[in-house]
Amino acid sequence: MQDKPAPDAAARAIADSLSQRFGERLAVDPGLQGLDELARLAAHRSHRRFLPRPVDPALLRLLCACALSAPSKSDLQQSDILILHDKEKRHAITVRIPDMPWIDEAPIFMVFLANGRRLPEIARMRQKPFPNDHLDLFFNASVDAAIVLATFLRAVEAVGLGCCPISAIRDHASFVSTLLELPERVIPIAGVCVGWPGEPGGITPRLGLDATIHHDRYGSGNLAAQIDAYDRRRKARRPYRSQRNPERWGMAAAYGWSEDKARQYAEPLRADFGAFVRAKGFCLD
Ligand SMILES: Cc1cc2nc3c(=O)[nH]c(=O)nc-3n(C[C@H](O)[C@H](O)[C@H](O)COP(=O)(O)O)c2cc1C
Repeated sequence: MQDKPAPDAAARAIADSLSQRFGERLAVDPGLQGLDELARLAAHRSHRRFLPRPVDPALLRLLCACALSAPSKSDLQQSDILILHDKEKRHAITVRIPDMPWIDEAPIFMVFLANGRRLPEIARMRQKPFPNDHLDLFFNASVDAAIVLATFLRAVEAVGLGCCPISAIRDHASFVSTLLELPERVIPIAGVCVGWPGEPGGITPRLGLDATIHHDRYGSGNLAAQIDAYDRRRKARRPYRSQRNPERWGMAAAYGWSEDKARQYAEPLRADFGAFVRAKGFCLD
């Protein structure tokens, strides 16, 4: 069992992680409780390389149970977890996403589902009307699933495992839905690769807190200056190793986060996702 760091060391570790993340040194009171949890949250990183060491199924079930203990809108419990044991099915997904070999290589692959099915089924079972078949059903189930997913990531990191969410499965939503036999109104939110980390990984800087924390009203601030500052800070700490689509956009002299994201979203992505969600029986009006 790992020794807990002394409170001063834990507070320093949190401030260090957040400084790497946001370029700002935050005050952390060493007397606060829960510093070990904050230290883990602050040091979060996605893992895409794993040791060839299995994950005990009982441990995985424990982590799922902790994740499904997350709060749920109106206690409606509109999220499920699918553990994909079948290697052939997993491979059928991976061959469609060849630039993410970690999906095939991870000891565990699972899919987090938004479930808008149970509630109207319960209405039918209890012979009640269901006048709520509109966008909110999709939205509530998706939010619940995202919260379960985020809680699962926390649980995974708490026990020293590593993971990487995979929304790329939604590039093939119909295929995944058929493969996993998802019924009407059950849709995949994201896959997740899980395993024992094969390398330590590192902290990815985020936008400065001035850009993402608002007080009393939405403060748009000087977005251009905030983005420039973030691009520079991120480039210094974690520069991009390659530029996206240089055939179309050329090689940029200063290639930062904003250039990368602008290039990424200059291509149409998942334009068929709305049609998929509608075809699964959700009403989006
Ligand atoms: C909903 C969601 C979907 C994601 N999908 C993918 C994915 O398809 N492939 C991948 O390699 N990483 C994926 N990621 C991981 C992000 O790329 C990662 O969180 C981001 O680059 C920031 O890095 P960090 O998690 O290490 O801080 C996803 C993350 C989230 C939250």
